Amino acid sequence: MISSKGMTIIDGKMLSDKILKEIEEEHSELQTGVGRKAGLAVIIVGENPASQIYVRNKIRACERVGFHSETIRLDEHITEENLLLEIEKLNNDNNIDGILVQLPIPKHINELKVINAISAEKDVDGFHTTNIGKMMIGDETGFLPCTPAGVIQMFEEYNIDLEGKDVLVIGQSNIVGKPMTLLLINKRATVQVCNSKTKNLPEKLQKADVVVAAAGSPKLVKGSDVKEGVVVIDIGINRVDGKICGDVDFEEVSQKASYITPVPGGVGPMTIAMLIKNTFKSYKQKVGK
Ligand code: GUN
Repeated sequence: MISSKGMTIIDGKMLSDKILKEIEEEHSELQTGVGRKAGLAVIIVGENPASQIYVRNKIRACERVGFHSETIRLDEHITEENLLLEIEKLNNDNNIDGILVQLPIPKHINELKVINAISAEKDVDGFHTTNIGKMMIGDETGFLPCTPAGVIQMFEEYNIDLEGKDVLVIGQSNIVGKPMTLLLINKRATVQVCNSKTKNLPEKLQKADVVVAAAGSPKLVKGSDVKEGVVVIDIGINRVDGKICGDVDFEEVSQKASYITPVPGGVGPMTIAMLIKNTFKSYKQKVGK
């Protein structure tokens, strides 16, 4: 959508719908010959309400594209050993192409151990050490983390060139900020990464051509912080007074931006589309297509 001021709202929902439709069609053609559907298994430990919603949306996307899916619900007190056994079963299940363990998991379980217990060939979240390494050196047989990969697809779809651009990434998590930074570097952007201890954030924001906000802090980025024509990607999903909002004050910042993602309807649907894309890639690798 383009406003009268020349500002474009990047429509993640529409782009995600397009990607899912293409996958649905290709999968439908392939599965007859192959004799089985692509399959995704999602493990959820405990009752975190936000995780319940995310998992439900991932399973719905599988249903939409005709994939087989399984949700494995485990008690929050499960031992690490038993969780690892569940993962092992799925690693050995020939109907399963993708496995993900919804994060966060309870504190008594070692997250890295769990992530690396998933076979790298089924790690459709792209969090396994092997896939992070493949991303680092540009080995395309691996899986890219879904949220950063979704953001890169948005830039490509809207022809937003990153070469030589000053990009400010706010947030340095393993699942978003760090891989996002790497993918932006690969696009020849000049990237600065900030965290909650960064000094003079508004001053740095003022200089950025592109802002990628993944801080988990509602409306952290204000209209007065950014320059005219900035491109803004909002990865935050925060719940304030029962309403979902991002890390960017959309009303204010959209007055100055050339491109901006909304929350909801921006990056969120793209994360799911990339998960389905990774699962389909894994399926095709396994069935030799
Ligand atoms: N928790 C928040 N985002 C994600 C994600 O992309 N994958 C998993 N497994 N857990 C998450």
